[in-house]
Amino acid sequence: MQEGLGVRAFTTRELRDMFRDFFVSKDHVPLPSASLVPRNDPTLLLTGAGMVPFKPYYIGTAKPEYLRATTCQKCIRTLDIENVGMTSRHLTCFEMLGNFSFGDYFKKDAIIWAWEFVTTHLGLPEDKLWITIYLDDDEAFDIWNRIIGVPSERIVRLGKPDNFWEIGVGPCGPCSEIHVDRGESFGCGQPDCRVGCDCDRFMEIWNLVFIQFYCNEKGEYKLLERKGIDTGMGLERVAAVMQGASTVFDTDAFRPVTQAILDAAGLRGDPNPKQMTSLRIVADHARAVTFLIADGVLPANEGRGYVLRRLIRRAVRHGKLLGIQKPFMVDMADVVSSVFSHTYPELVMRKDHIHKVIGSEEQRFLERLDQGTTMLQDIVMELENKGSLTVPGSWAFKLYDTYGFPLELTREIAGESGMTVDEEGFLEAMEEQRERARASRHALGYMGGLSTAKAEALSGLDVEFIGYDTLTGESKITAIFAEGEPVGHISSGQDGEVVLDRTPFYAEAGGQVGDSGDIVGEGFRARVNNTVRLSDSVIAHNVTVVEGDLSVGDVANARVDEGMRSSTARNHTATHLLQAALRAVLGDHV
Ligand code: ALA
Repeated sequence: MQEGLGVRAFTTRELRDMFRDFFVSKDHVPLPSASLVPRNDPTLLLTGAGMVPFKPYYIGTAKPEYLRATTCQKCIRTLDIENVGMTSRHLTCFEMLGNFSFGDYFKKDAIIWAWEFVTTHLGLPEDKLWITIYLDDDEAFDIWNRIIGVPSERIVRLGKPDNFWEIGVGPCGPCSEIHVDRGESFGCGQPDCRVGCDCDRFMEIWNLVFIQFYCNEKGEYKLLERKGIDTGMGLERVAAVMQGASTVFDTDAFRPVTQAILDAAGLRGDPNPKQMTSLRIVADHARAVTFLIADGVLPANEGRGYVLRRLIRRAVRHGKLLGIQKPFMVDMADVVSSVFSHTYPELVMRKDHIHKVIGSEEQRFLERLDQGTTMLQDIVMELENKGSLTVPGSWAFKLYDTYGFPLELTREIAGESGMTVDEEGFLEAMEEQRERARASRHALGYMGGLSTAKAEALSGLDVEFIGYDTLTGESKITAIFAEGEPVGHISSGQDGEVVLDRTPFYAEAGGQVGDSGDIVGEGFRARVNNTVRLSDSVIAHNVTVVEGDLSVGDVANARVDEGMRSSTARNHTATHLLQAALRAVLGDHV
């Protein structure tokens, strides 16, 4: 028992198991966490919620083998990265416990079971639980109020930002959240502090989403044929509540990591507030990068590889701020792996690979930091010669942006020569860059993936692959995309992506390049340069129209270049042999 809520301090591992066992007892199929890299989903960069692997089941583009499932899903969300370390509860890498219904049970069961779990199994006191519902969701109100018995004053109606859950283009719906009142000592003390306040008093632990709609690219909500349930309970948050920990970083799953960081930094006694922020950032990011690399992400300058690179750099930078002098991230990854190996064996299986990737990226970044120091010293000298005493904000920002140089470091080095930094200019440059990032994030959708009319068009398509039996076939054109947008036709000289109802063309997969050939019909001919898979069920041909016009609805003859296919097949087999040899010599991560 602990003080405060008077509940049992279950460990993170116990909580995972309790949740799974509870929903198994309600006939849910327990499934392992999916990869952080979404499968066949061009609309998402990373898995950021438990429902991601199940999107096709809600939309109806794939049929599940079961109607109820439960998971503990590893997730990455970097939208709130600036909040990590600043609050008690924000993380970029977290685990989401969830129960899912694909056209089976709906609101009533989801609410009744959630209540049963939090009050009976977790033992949370009913009078400390608050409920939020979507503005006009009277059905949810009635279930909470009349069936469960939550007094109406503890049921709060909130608007779309809080109580409507969506993922860009995809399944969505109104939601209802369970919050725990952790007491005044966690609060901001403002007179209007209540559920929904940004402070740490009312901790949202569970979100129950009533999946009813499909949101298309135009932002239109279409009613889904079959309703579903998608819930997400933040494991770290529940652990903090149960363990009476002031922050998620003080739970059993984080303590070994934060202790290892403090040891590496040689810090004794209580960290000051700035050190505390850095400590939490390093702890969160060390976890995120270890999980990302285990799932096959490699550092890069774009896409998910850039997310990884940014997390490694931020962690190294904050490690430096804590006073860590040597490379340390590999050791932190080992601590993370030992804490989570029971649930995520891939962390141990890919240990060597994780070491190699983190080690070389950290080394590279440390060299950049050194280069940046030299560059800054040159800047200071140049300014001194000019008689200026201020480092322009844009230069300080360039050092920050290109070399990962924290403002503190620039200030410190400039200060040694009696100079100051134009911090206002620095912040302006930072804000401009944020604006650019916001704009591109907007263009990329909620979780950083593409959200285009293309995604919507794809959801209605299905392609039959006939290429194992034949290299030619009669087909119908079902969709055409030009410059990423759906179009009705393309003409001679234009490039585009053509989708057929059936195709003998093999799409690039498993390291085998896509087929090339021709698509020919009455009055038109298009050269197929490559074939790619746009989703689980859609194969597209990248074409250049050589003659005439291709229109949706046209009948066409699809012909694979035979010579090319057999060379490709031979090369593919040779690649498998080479891969096997590389694995034998270098290891399983190849
Ligand atoms: N998908 C919902 C969320 O992420 C449960 O909050």
